[in-house]
Amino acid sequence: MTSELSPIDQAKFIAAKRAADMVEDGMRVGLGTGSTAAWFVRCLGELVRSGDLEIHGVPTSQRTAALARDVGIPLMSLDEARWLDLTVDGADEFDRDLNLIKGGGGALLQEKIVATASDRVVIIADKAKEVETLGAFPLPLEVIPFGWQTTQALVEETLVAMNVMGRKATLRMNGDAAWVTDEGNHILDLHLHRIGNARQLALVLNQIPGVVENGLFIDICDTVIVGFGDGKVEVRDIDQGTIETGHIEFEESENLFRDLGE
Ligand code: 5RP
Repeated sequence: MTSELSPIDQAKFIAAKRAADMVEDGMRVGLGTGSTAAWFVRCLGELVRSGDLEIHGVPTSQRTAALARDVGIPLMSLDEARWLDLTVDGADEFDRDLNLIKGGGGALLQEKIVATASDRVVIIADKAKEVETLGAFPLPLEVIPFGWQTTQALVEETLVAMNVMGRKATLRMNGDAAWVTDEGNHILDLHLHRIGNARQLALVLNQIPGVVENGLFIDICDTVIVGFGDGKVEVRDIDQGTIETGHIEFEESENLFRDLGE
């Protein structure tokens, strides 16, 4: 029940619920990964099960695919869909230009491919994700396992010439083993503290052999929906330059709140 949700989960839920209002019949919808995106998948599942909405979802991870199946959303692969109407995902950080750091949940590669193939990308987040300058959250970098330590050294060397405040790259772990992404790769987390030129950094990192993709999402996001614990919601649109505010009432829904969190 909603009373059991922490304020941060309530904020995530509010943002997710507002994003679900943007989904229309017949849409092909990219389904993001992470705890905020999971709320969106649950909200969407409820609409689909009630018969109010017919859509197809394209998941950005095995985790999201499993949740979407659980809540009754019909799925298709990106290759079947080819192009998507809308993608809704979470983020680790967003700035005033709606540039993002993503990949805290380890799904940045599929997330970036799916977002780039979408007419509209909506990011759902709580206020704590908003930053003046990107970089306090360690920047995830997906690298192939072959020679990852050489790649790590090259990345750290490259960072010397970049406008960043730190340059340590650490291998993400899953217990005692290296984290393995859905694509079988590893993740280096770059502790940069402050990224002075995110656009340039994103381009340079992707030139390093062994790097598959970085977690900087530049000019990809169209809209950020910020949820608050008291039901307030803000919709910021970069193309229209608008900020719309509203309020969403919590609804006591057994199905939605039964199986909490990721
Ligand atoms: C996964 C992501 C997530 O969207 C990001 O980590 C935010 O997650 P959460 O909503 O759990 O805070 O990029 O790769």
